[in-house]
Amino acid sequence: MASWDERFRDGSYPTDPDPSPVLQRYVDTFPDGRALDLATGTGRNAVFLAERGYRVDGLDQSREGLRIARENAAAAGVVDRTNWIQGDVPSYAFPESTYDVVTVSFYRAIDRFADIKEALTPGGVLFVQHHLRTTDPVEVGPDTDRYRFAANELLHACLDMTVLYFDAKTERRPDGRPSATTEIVARNTTGHRQSYPEPDG
Ligand SMILES: C[S@@+](CC[C@H](N)C(=O)[O-])C[C@H]1O[C@@H](n2cnc3c(N)ncnc32)[C@H](O)[C@@H]1O
Repeated sequence: MASWDERFRDGSYPTDPDPSPVLQRYVDTFPDGRALDLATGTGRNAVFLAERGYRVDGLDQSREGLRIARENAAAAGVVDRTNWIQGDVPSYAFPESTYDVVTVSFYRAIDRFADIKEALTPGGVLFVQHHLRTTDPVEVGPDTDRYRFAANELLHACLDMTVLYFDAKTERRPDGRPSATTEIVARNTTGHRQSYPEPDG
């Protein structure tokens, strides 16, 4: 398979896709401040968060992805609120208690979840979406189950947090291709009494 640099360069992966719908729906319920978008790609969620006022670090291994992300940030007028980091998620040294929001879309960072959660401020929110293992005939995402989440694996990884939203489903994408995806919004809090904000829309 082509490298991510090649895929971004030849346009086989969309260079300016829309931000994640669940992120768009929940963002108004998140605390303000700093955000980290892991495996940011061309920065669709990072730029969206910057447009919403966050100071955003977008991390990816792909120089080409980050080059396009910088262009997207410039086009959106949020260069001063975005910082692009070329880094490797498996070995990255996450700062502790730093980010009010961490987002991970379509990268299986499960081995780093303990450190990612520690990178959240108290009350900080984690949004994750990724491909799911399924018996349904899907046409999007990794060919092997190794890089997909097993049933409930994402939910299980966040049970020490306050889960505000969880979903796992097979659906047709706008281009007609079937895809199996799981998503979570979880807050870095525990306790008997908490708020459960209702997102708009
Ligand atoms: C499917 S794309 C998702 C991009 C973006 N999050 C989105 O949803 O549009 C996966 C991204 O993970 C990045 N990636 C793959 N392995 C990585 C690693 N070890 N460290 C950092 N980024 C990585 C790729 O460069 C690519 O940008």
